[in-house]
Amino acid sequence: MIYYFAPLEGVTGSEFRRAHHQFFPGVDAYYMPFLSPTQDHVFTHRERRNVLPEYNQGFRAVPQLLTKSAEDFLWCAGELSAMGYGEVNLNLGCPSGTVVAKGKGAGMLARPEELERFLEEIFARAPAGLRISLKTRLGLEDPEEFPRLLELFSRYPVSLLILHPRVRADFYKKPVRTEWFAYAAEHYRAPLCFNGGLTAPEDCALLSQTFPQVDQVMIGQGLLADPALVRRAKGGPAASKEELRGFHDQLYRTYLEIFASQRNTVFHMKELWSYLHTRFEGGEKPLKRLRRAADSPSYEAAVNQMFALPLASGPARS
Ligand SMILES: Cc1cc2nc3c(=O)[nH]c(=O)nc-3n(C[C@H](O)[C@H](O)[C@H](O)COP(=O)(O)O)c2cc1C
Repeated sequence: MIYYFAPLEGVTGSEFRRAHHQFFPGVDAYYMPFLSPTQDHVFTHRERRNVLPEYNQGFRAVPQLLTKSAEDFLWCAGELSAMGYGEVNLNLGCPSGTVVAKGKGAGMLARPEELERFLEEIFARAPAGLRISLKTRLGLEDPEEFPRLLELFSRYPVSLLILHPRVRADFYKKPVRTEWFAYAAEHYRAPLCFNGGLTAPEDCALLSQTFPQVDQVMIGQGLLADPALVRRAKGGPAASKEELRGFHDQLYRTYLEIFASQRNTVFHMKELWSYLHTRFEGGEKPLKRLRRAADSPSYEAAVNQMFALPLASGPARS
């Protein structure tokens, strides 16, 4: 099985990917949180920190683009190809209200004719040798939208179709619609990847039993809750407390350095803890304290309280 780390905007930036790879190597590729190329055709400082190859050394990373403009996509794809990237990913799944209102992300699924013109352009004019993968949902409102979309995707040389089998209206909460992934597995004849709700090695095993023809999965929140999930899925050991502490401290120190702000650093770390606390027996209590922290001293005290707890014995469930 090939395992990808899902893009998680606000969490899995380059600092996170480096720390995760250092302590928990074994993920086959990290898909980056989206870049939003604009018509100015320049990268912001933050985007450069996410995407420049020097910040992504030692592991495979795939940039993701969120745009409905073929021109902007092609500009950005050209820049990324020149940096040495061999694949770019198109975001067709972002459910955010402002993104969808602008007709981007999952909003592109609602207008198949426009999406077809967009795909026509980008696949015709992308830099030679650059692979284009898609990350999509089943549709905007209703999974019955999916067969038409799948037929459309089948017409292009998509290097990998990553399917998160929910519609936009499901956001991230409603149950994953596995029956629609089965539809894709049956009808789609090119590389296909499952994404959504995998939080334990048993989930990955069940998926490969159910879909023996699918050998690629993408995991997001499950890997935040248990950074060693891929290692465990491959038969390796669970994360030790020392590894979790090392990973945490590395990330925390890096954020303090780049943000030069305790408040901003603590804010970023809280997002990770909203998942990672499940690794600790009784982690909800220090989590409450952690959520109230606004500076390094109060944050570090809460983290020490967390690490004093025993690790949870069962598989991490977020
Ligand atoms: C906080 C957060 C940020 C996300 N950011 C992105 C993103 O930048 N690009 C993207 O394609 N998906 C994004 N997603 C969706 C995830 O990549 C993934 O599809 C989703 O969480 C379901 O997979 P999981 O259950 O394994 O987490 C985000 C999800 C969350 C919760």
